[in-house]
Amino acid sequence: MDKIANNSEDYIKVGNEKFVPLITEAEIQKRNTELGKKISVDYKSKMPILIGVLNGAFIFLADLIKNIDIKCEVDFFKLSSYGDEKISSGHVKLLKELNADITDRHVIVVEDIIDSGLSMKFILEMMSKSQPASLSVASLLVKPDSLKYDFKIDYIGFEIADKFVIGYGLDYAQKYRNLRSIYVLSE
Ligand code: IMP
Ligand code: MG
Repeated sequence: MDKIANNSEDYIKVGNEKFVPLITEAEIQKRNTELGKKISVDYKSKMPILIGVLNGAFIFLADLIKNIDIKCEVDFFKLSSYGDEKISSGHVKLLKELNADITDRHVIVVEDIIDSGLSMKFILEMMSKSQPASLSVASLLVKPDSLKYDFKIDYIGFEIADKFVIGYGLDYAQKYRNLRSIYVLSE
């Protein structure tokens, strides 16, 4: 009962909506290896702290750090802006605060996806107040056509079209985060 498909060839049915494969598990892991290597070089001797944005980034962050071969730390905080809908509410709320002291630290914010950029803008403004030594952004996915705010995205997994996606941490009404690959809503 309630079993969901979890291999890249299948599509996912959610009510009347159909999600089709977009990025495979193998493609994601290959990209994670590349990003991890790049971060390891860029942050050599800097002991960065990777800060994951909950809930979406938990799988990406877990896989990414396994590909980083320098000393690093990890922390999380939680934001909410989507509610259970596919379209952003346009508001960002801080639901769980960061525990780590990031003053004078090299911070890498890790996100699952940057859509309008509102959440990341909020995060970067909030983090800047603590005066980190440096602040960069890693996002598994970016939707360039829907970006409304201007900031640098230092590490990008994949650029995708402005369509709703699920899987590999990304949810639809809190479900489907456990899919191993990424699926896109087909219209
Ligand atoms: P933004 O503030 O518009 O950039 O939206 C960022 C947040 O919205 C992400 O951290 C995700 O949690 C969520 N989000 C944006 N697009 C999608 C999507 O296609 N699928 C699932 N969640 C999404
Ligand atoms: Mg998110």
